[in-house]
Amino acid sequence: MSSFSIAWLDLREAADIAARDKNIAAQLLNWLGQAADPVSPDRIAVDLGAGTGSTLRALNKSGASNIVWRLVELDGKLLDEALRRHGKQCLIEDYQADLNIIEELPLTGAHIISASALFDLTSASFIDALLARIDARKTAVYAALNYDGTTHWTPAHSLDEKVLAAFNQDQLRDKGFGPALGPDCTAYLQQALSAKGYNLTLSPSPWQLTAQHSELLRELISGIATAVVNADELTVEAILEWKDFRIAHIGDGHCTVGHWDLLALPD
Ligand SMILES: C[S@@+](CC[C@H](N)C(=O)[O-])C[C@H]1O[C@@H](n2cnc3c(N)ncnc32)[C@H](O)[C@@H]1O
Repeated sequence: MSSFSIAWLDLREAADIAARDKNIAAQLLNWLGQAADPVSPDRIAVDLGAGTGSTLRALNKSGASNIVWRLVELDGKLLDEALRRHGKQCLIEDYQADLNIIEELPLTGAHIISASALFDLTSASFIDALLARIDARKTAVYAALNYDGTTHWTPAHSLDEKVLAAFNQDQLRDKGFGPALGPDCTAYLQQALSAKGYNLTLSPSPWQLTAQHSELLRELISGIATAVVNADELTVEAILEWKDFRIAHIGDGHCTVGHWDLLALPD
């Protein structure tokens, strides 16, 4: 299963929806309501790396209305799927674009810039350039599900720490935006947005995975094993032993994957 396929995004969505911090979403919608212009109530949200529209779905579940969604996504198939799922009920403008071409992103007039499961793939220079285009007096930033480098498994295995360290090292690999921030992305966003004068709220939004997420766990375990295959500290046999143990315990184990949600509101 490829990392940004519809199947993978669908597989993670239930865990993502459960993990997203509901107070942060409510705070964002409350701010949008207060900022609404009674003559022209539509608010503009630009969702970066939108996939099939998971942020739109999450905020709709939280009661969002009157939002014009500008979905920005490199992969046309994902955008088509977002339009197929939501094009009739929601106002959507679709932009098939590379986020790296920051000067061409459709940010003009935006009330919210949102992204989920995206910023940990990006780099410090990408975030700096993006924030330079955002008006901190008018535009909220909602960054959900940023991986924080923590993963806890039960039952424990003696290689868990080594595998996690190697996986976190792999998270820093360039994912198309320059050296990735990976687990450091929330701290980086926090200081960069604070420096622009934003009021910040941060909240943990971990995946809590049990046997009911067996397919997601299977893909996660395989993905981790593949990501660490070249790690100096782990032999192929050790990785296979860890993978087999983890897969054997999908039915009776538990896994927590740490993420953070962040909301930056204009002062
Ligand atoms: C981990 S997925 C998250 C998708 C969606 N936000 C979600 O939470 O389901 C990251 C998304 O960013 C998109 N993406 C990655 N690099 C991109 C780029 N350079 N420009 C635009 N989109 C990109 C991928 O195609 C993918 O849909």
